[in-house]
Amino acid sequence: MGTLKNAWYRVFQCSFSAAQIFLPQHSPELLTGAGSIKKLPDFIKSKGVGKVLIVTDAVLSKIGLLESLFAACKESGLEYVLYDGAEVNPSIECIEAALKMYLDNKCQGFIAFGGGSSMDCAKAAAARVARPKRSIAQLGGTMKVLKKIPPLFAVPTTAGTGSEATLAAVVTDYSTHHKYAIQDPVLLPRYAVLDPELTVGLPPHVTSTTGMDALTHAVEAYTNKFAPKYTRILSEKATKLIFDNLEKAYADGKNLEARSNMLLASFYAGRAFSRACVGNVHAIAHTLGGLYGTPHGLANAVILPYVMEDFGPAVYKDLARLADIVGISGSSEEEKARAFILAIRKMNKDMNIIEQFDNIKDSDIPQMIEWALKEANPVYPVPVIWDEAQMAKTIARLRKAPVPAETVS
Ligand SMILES: NC(=O)c1ccc[n+]([C@@H]2O[C@H](COP(=O)([O-])OP(=O)(O)OC[C@H]3O[C@@H](n4cnc5c(N)ncnc54)[C@H](O)[C@@H]3O)[C@@H](O)[C@H]2O)c1
Ligand SMILES: [Fe+2]
Repeated sequence: MGTLKNAWYRVFQCSFSAAQIFLPQHSPELLTGAGSIKKLPDFIKSKGVGKVLIVTDAVLSKIGLLESLFAACKESGLEYVLYDGAEVNPSIECIEAALKMYLDNKCQGFIAFGGGSSMDCAKAAAARVARPKRSIAQLGGTMKVLKKIPPLFAVPTTAGTGSEATLAAVVTDYSTHHKYAIQDPVLLPRYAVLDPELTVGLPPHVTSTTGMDALTHAVEAYTNKFAPKYTRILSEKATKLIFDNLEKAYADGKNLEARSNMLLASFYAGRAFSRACVGNVHAIAHTLGGLYGTPHGLANAVILPYVMEDFGPAVYKDLARLADIVGISGSSEEEKARAFILAIRKMNKDMNIIEQFDNIKDSDIPQMIEWALKEANPVYPVPVIWDEAQMAKTIARLRKAPVPAETVS
């Protein structure tokens, strides 16, 4: 029965990846370089948009990160309304509040300014503008929007989720604690600004964990089955950039070159996984975000080495290739793959990222397994399709406390 189900998943994934040929994805038009945010208002006006809703979070508003954008808006005459209520792991309520402000003020486009949480809040609100009769819950899943969204200009301030380059918006239903994605090519932003000056104040722990999120995108997309050449090239570039720059940005937040390279890596990794999906690392990470509010990057950083180890020989060839690219040696594919996973663990350790979680409750494990499997299957073309027992084993390895016998078959 399991074998038949897995065969059906593979047929689905293969057909889905073949269908991508007929669903071309654009790459966002970019404004890049230190200070490029100041060019955004004129750029927006040149696209025929006269009034925007800026969606961001309260922290960024409070620390004044938007000041240069506000000044440039005034100078160019671009009208704006500010919504600064986006939450970390954005809720349906904050998305609806942003939507209301957009409609009440008759805005014509969005500036999605911040980390993945702010950008996804804006993307999800834009999906609701396009589909006013469908709730966020009804838009959740794959290809449920299918209608052009208003112009959306994405400005990442972490590096990152790559949300400025992806077809996803990740939302959390706090009534059930379920965190899930709306995935649709219409959510891929048309425009993005990669300005390293906006990331220099990112605290070291957010720098490191969001950087590991980008690495997770690159590695999961690369190790997935049916990953097109486009994905493989971008994943390789992103992985190299992250190995060369993340620890530099962590050690010296003001290093503009490292910050620029991390923004680029995050963008590449986002483009890479938009074509090839993420995998079981993200499927598990989203359950931790929904249940405990675990920051997304932190969850991925911790989970990535465990999942890659548990995939076993199926990922040796791909990880060995990534090892070659970042200059890790070994005498066989297995040895290189293991050394690559070890290098991820070392990066985590050097950047003070924890090794395990001590907050996963026994009573939550069955729900985590159910949600993670539901997210992964059949859509994610993971290297090995996991059943409940394997998912339980991996979750058990993530915990400091042992897992009760009845949850691990
Ligand atoms: N859409 C996608 O494709 C995609 C991909 C991966 C993750 N995500 C989602 O993105 C969210 C996580 O986003 P994130 O990791 O970027 O973090 P975030 O947006 O939640 O931000 C984390 C914290 O960092 C602060 N911050 C952001 N930029 C800052 C800066 N420049 N200076 C100082 N503080 C700053 C924020 O105010 C916030 O307190 C999760 O919900 C995750 O599921 C989406
Ligand atoms: Fe992610």
